[in-house]
Amino acid sequence: MSFSLEGKIALVTGASRGLGAEIADTLAAHGAYVVGTGTSEESAAKITARFAEKGLKGSGEVLNVNDPDAMTGLISKMKDTCGLPLILVNNAGITKDNLMLRMKPEQWDDVISTNLTSVFHLSKLCLRGMIKANWGRIINISSVVGVAGNPGQANYAASKAGVIGFGKSLAQEIASRGITVNAVAPGFIKSDMTDKLSEEQQEGLKKIIPMGECGEPEDIALGVLYLASDAGRYVTGQTLNINGGMFMA
Ligand SMILES: NC(=O)c1ccc[n+]([C@@H]2O[C@H](COP(=O)([O-])OP(=O)(O)OC[C@H]3O[C@@H](n4cnc5c(N)ncnc54)[C@H](OP(=O)(O)O)[C@@H]3O)[C@@H](O)[C@H]2O)c1
Repeated sequence: MSFSLEGKIALVTGASRGLGAEIADTLAAHGAYVVGTGTSEESAAKITARFAEKGLKGSGEVLNVNDPDAMTGLISKMKDTCGLPLILVNNAGITKDNLMLRMKPEQWDDVISTNLTSVFHLSKLCLRGMIKANWGRIINISSVVGVAGNPGQANYAASKAGVIGFGKSLAQEIASRGITVNAVAPGFIKSDMTDKLSEEQQEGLKKIIPMGECGEPEDIALGVLYLASDAGRYVTGQTLNINGGMFMA
C-alpha cells in the first residue's frame, strides 16, 4: 500500500495560503500534478511560483467558488491542458461570524455558498472523469465546529456539517465506482488567524485542547494525503477529526 500519487491530477481550492497551501504542496510532493486555486491573479501567480520554487508539478489558477460558470470553465480548461482531476480537495472556506439574532441573511448566504454549495458544483463537475477512470477521491475540509457547534458561528457550523452529510450520501452513491468521499475536520490549527490571538487567548485555547497546543497545517495535509492515496482506499463516508482531542466523536 502506497502514499504515492504519481500520475494523478489533483485540484485543491484555496491553495494560496493556510491549510490549502500545505495540502497542495503535500499532494504535489507525493507525485500528483496539482492545480491550486486562489481568488485573484496575484494569488494564482503566488501558487505557480511556490510550486516552481519547490520543484513541484502544478500551477495556480483563479477561481471564485461562488461562480458556477467559473468552476465549469476551470474543469474544462483542465481537461484540455493537464487532464481532469481525479483528486478533488474542497478546501476554500470563509467565516462571517455573528450571534444568531444579529446575523444578516447575506452572512448566512455567503458562508453557505462558499463553503457548501461550491462543494456540490465542483464534486458534480469532477464526477464524470472519476467514473470514467473508475477511481476518484473527494475530500471536503470541514471543521470541529461542524461536528460540535460554536456560538456565533451558526452559518459556518451549518456549512461544515453540511459537507459531512453531503459526503456520506455521495459516498454511498459512488462507492462501487472506486470513488471515495470523506471529510477532514480540523480543530484549531496554527494560521495567520491564530498567530494574531493575544497571549491570554492562546492560553485559553490550550485549556480546551487536551494535547495542549494548536495543530500544524502539516497535521491536516497528511490526513488529506492518507485519504487521497491508495492507503485510504477502503475508507469512505468518514470524517477524520484532527483536533488534538478537542472533540471526540
Ligand atoms: N485554520 C483553521 O484553524 C481551520 C480550522 C477548521 C477548519 N478550517 C477550514 O480549512 C479551510 C482552510 O482554512 P484556512 O484557515 O487555511 O483559510 P485561509 O488561510 O483564510 O485561506 C482561505 C483560502 O480560500 C480561498 N478563498 C476564499 N474565498 C474564496 C472563494 N470565494 N473562492 C475560492 N477561493 C476562496 C483564499 O484565496 P485568496 O488567498 O485568493 O483569498 C485562500 O486560498 C477552510 O475551509 C476552513 O473553514 C480551518
